[in-house]
Amino acid sequence: MIYVAVWGYGTVGSGVVEVIEKNKEMVNKKSAAELEIKYILDLRDFPGDPYEQKVVHDVNVILDDPDVTIICETMGGVKPAYDFTKAALERGKSVCTSNKELVASHGPELLQIAREHNCNYLFEASVGGGIPIIRPLNYSLTAEKLEAITGILNGTTNYILTKMEREGADFAATLKKAQEKGYAERNPEADIEGYDACRKIAILSSLMTGQNVSYKDIYTEGITGITADDFVYARAMGRSIKLLAMSKDTPQGTLAMVAPCMITPENPLYMVSGVFNAVCVRGNMLGDSMYYGKGAGKLPTASAVVSDVVDCARHQGRTIMCFWNQEPARLVDIGDVERGFFVRARDDAAAEIEAAFPGAEKIEVEGRTRDCGYLIAPIKERDFAAKYETLGDRVLGRIRLEG
Ligand code: HSE
Repeated sequence: MIYVAVWGYGTVGSGVVEVIEKNKEMVNKKSAAELEIKYILDLRDFPGDPYEQKVVHDVNVILDDPDVTIICETMGGVKPAYDFTKAALERGKSVCTSNKELVASHGPELLQIAREHNCNYLFEASVGGGIPIIRPLNYSLTAEKLEAITGILNGTTNYILTKMEREGADFAATLKKAQEKGYAERNPEADIEGYDACRKIAILSSLMTGQNVSYKDIYTEGITGITADDFVYARAMGRSIKLLAMSKDTPQGTLAMVAPCMITPENPLYMVSGVFNAVCVRGNMLGDSMYYGKGAGKLPTASAVVSDVVDCARHQGRTIMCFWNQEPARLVDIGDVERGFFVRARDDAAAEIEAAFPGAEKIEVEGRTRDCGYLIAPIKERDFAAKYETLGDRVLGRIRLEG
């Protein structure tokens, strides 16, 4: 018998209990052991819940119980999850988590503690919800030199952008509707400002390089500046606008960033719409591979946590190798990177645009009178920003171009 504790009986935590119970037979077979949920840690009581007898309020009850060898941390946030996780790993208890904030901020340290105590810190659910992406990077693509990872890693923003694209609606109105339908949080800042995708690409970049890519060093831009007008031009060019989280291995170091980009139909991420997530991974032998599915939600995320529980059960007393150490990765200054841009400008600014960006290609859209679109040939981000700045209120917006 392997005893499991669940920390946090919210959406994902209750999903973990549901997955373990509903798929008990299969999960036990795959674990080659019988799993039993012994405790659920939460500040609240759950009268009438079938598991109410298992609810405890003091983490020490779990930490001090030698029977418990696997913990599912589904609390979220850094505090108190960091202290609890550290204490559990130091006692040799494995921790399986969906907590991307904690993995992104303390991942390599917690992995080291797990190694020192012959247990595991696993985090499949922290990126892409139910999509297997951590395990493919860690176990499957081990013959590859990973060259690039590009993903749509946030379902809320992808849902909003898809709605704006299909309905021609504004950002603010679309966000409001998404909140009413429960697709966006009441406080949506982490999603719409790109912070959530930033933490996720920090984790994937670290696994790509084997070193630590701190989320604090990743240039991050959200989708709040994207307008219905931008989509009019995107459509006219046969492009789409997606919030991309990108990481590339370059001779100068790792180039990691999160930003809305205009992409062409040739890009495999073009077709990823609604709340779905997808991650494209490029290896030097395999070339491109793509991982697609539900990036959030109770059962998909819980399923990923339970897959880690099964892995822990299969490796009791042994640490599964994870290619992520504490050494900081060398990051490229994005100012040095060359790329193309889409610029939307006032319709009377053609001469100034042409002077700032010689050869800018004008995008004609029938019926537009207030503004005009331009495609700017690849230019260093730093130089583009300086020139764009000089154009003042003659420019109305700019979006990066990706293939
Ligand atoms: N808020 C996140 C999203 C949930 O919208 O993708 C999963 O991390």
